[in-house]
Amino acid sequence: MTTGNLLTDNPELYEARFPDPDRLAGRWAEDCLRRHGAGPRVLDMGCGTGRDAAHLHGAGRTVTGADLSEAMLAHARARHPGPAYVRADLHGFDLGRAAFDAVVCLDSSLLYCHTDDQLDGFLASCHHALAPGGLLVAEMRNGAYFLGRTDLLDTPTVNAFTWQGTAYRSTTTLTVDRTAQLLRRTRVWTSDDGLPASEQRSAWRLLFPLELRHVLAVHGFEVLELHDGPGPRTEPPWQEGELPGRVTDADRLHLVARLRTTL
Ligand SMILES: C[S@@+](CC[C@H](N)C(=O)[O-])C[C@H]1O[C@@H](n2cnc3c(N)ncnc32)[C@H](O)[C@@H]1O
Repeated sequence: MTTGNLLTDNPELYEARFPDPDRLAGRWAEDCLRRHGAGPRVLDMGCGTGRDAAHLHGAGRTVTGADLSEAMLAHARARHPGPAYVRADLHGFDLGRAAFDAVVCLDSSLLYCHTDDQLDGFLASCHHALAPGGLLVAEMRNGAYFLGRTDLLDTPTVNAFTWQGTAYRSTTTLTVDRTAQLLRRTRVWTSDDGLPASEQRSAWRLLFPLELRHVLAVHGFEVLELHDGPGPRTEPPWQEGELPGRVTDADRLHLVARLRTTL
């Protein structure tokens, strides 16, 4: 058994495993930006393969994609050109004071802030990066979903797919670490190409809606929308023209917050 992060080390495999041919995440983010009148300069924090950053670029925005993974950034530059791509850590970054009109943070990237210090670092960095009135748009798992529900924890999820002639199979187990307030994921990969099985461990902060509202207020943000859907990863998924919901019960959270012009 080897360890590593097969998906972030292999961005092409990541896109094959999580296809988004209709660019739903990028379109949803653009819809949020447009509905709230965001200016053109956008930072996509935890941009991954660059798909969403490139969609926002195609919509006419001036986009910077930032990620910690050099493999993701190399893929983004080659496959999704248009945005500027830079290496930055979402726990604390400085890409210029008031350099952006919006920060987007999609597919639970924000939940890589595991500790309160990391979350404070992220929001302080967003505050520094945004012009007054700038927007923070994020999409992530909803920690509150796990209160009283075990359906995502009871049975490992098995996924099998073929990519470039190799059959891959992943078995994913989720557990709740109540002390660290983390959702821990163990994913075991096997493939029919003779390579040994590999195990990947990851975790997301279990962030609760009222906790998120509080920490945003502390950092000078006003929450404009916080809801469980429709969104790019809800079932059914968000469609163009659909408006945000009002509750935060289901398993995804969608956030739009504005940096206050006066504190
Ligand atoms: C689940 S992927 C989401 C990628 C992309 N936003 C999307 O929606 O397809 C999470 C991304 O966050 C990046 N990441 C993890 N920890 C990070 C950190 N501390 N700073 C910046 N990026 C980080 C990973 O490299 C990965 O590309």
